[in-house]
Amino acid sequence: MAKLKIYEYPHPILKQKAEKVAGVDDEMRKFLDDMLETMYASNGCGLAAPQVGVSKRVVVIDIAHEGEEPAPLYMVNPQIVWKSEETEICEEGCLSLPSLRAEVERHASVKVQYLDYNGNECELLAEDFLAVAMQHELDHLDGILYIDHVSRLKRQMLVKKLEKIRKEQGGNQI
Ligand code: NI
Repeated sequence: MAKLKIYEYPHPILKQKAEKVAGVDDEMRKFLDDMLETMYASNGCGLAAPQVGVSKRVVVIDIAHEGEEPAPLYMVNPQIVWKSEETEICEEGCLSLPSLRAEVERHASVKVQYLDYNGNECELLAEDFLAVAMQHELDHLDGILYIDHVSRLKRQMLVKKLEKIRKEQGGNQI
């Protein structure tokens, strides 16, 4: 397995609509393994392929807490097929926007169809934080970041904060 480079805001690949994948083969499984390793190494609970520079509809998620058994979800060509009317507000962060967090309103539950690690067609009804994680990661596949869901003023504030943090850390500026 290999740790991949994470692309950060405002890299243009994060704004692109990712392409559907033909199917799950060994090469895709290797990529899924690498994505999961990269996500764990960065202490993330979700990662979408565009975040590692690959514009394909592929996502990994693991919302297990530290000390719990890992529970990785591999999702290829994921699609939301149902969403609840009920919404909830949750604080989100993103590996492509390091050190930032903001509250975002999402559907409280969603049903997602996808291909799993073995290429099997799956359907999952997600609630609470898993539903939030799925909506966040699936957004990445359409070039949407969580900061696109907050007000313009709040977004400008977050981006300024990110620039300030980068300046303080030195380097890593785009
Ligand atoms: Ni993200």
